[in-house]
Amino acid sequence: MPDSAIKPFRCHVFVCVNKRDGKPACEDHGAKKALEKAKDAVKALPFAKREGIRLSQSGCLGQCEHGPVAVVYPPGKWISYSSADELVRFILDAIETAD
Ligand code: FES
Repeated sequence: MPDSAIKPFRCHVFVCVNKRDGKPACEDHGAKKALEKAKDAVKALPFAKREGIRLSQSGCLGQCEHGPVAVVYPPGKWISYSSADELVRFILDAIETAD
């Protein structure tokens, strides 16, 4: 049964921090540290900007060959990032356009 008390997030980002035995995975590229940097960047925003924003670490998102990856909803936009700074820019841009 739907719970009307649950308030949806304005913007929800999933950052894969998965590791896989002997296979390429996002955490091989420092995904957890990138996520922490992104969380710090969001916390530094004024409250009105960061309200309703959620950053979650996730398990495998099924895009390992493109890792490290993250996805933001809405609109369901993906990124294969090459640095923590690139992930931060992606997330801040997503927040800027979310409503
Ligand atoms: S390990 Fe990150 S998408 Fe699979």
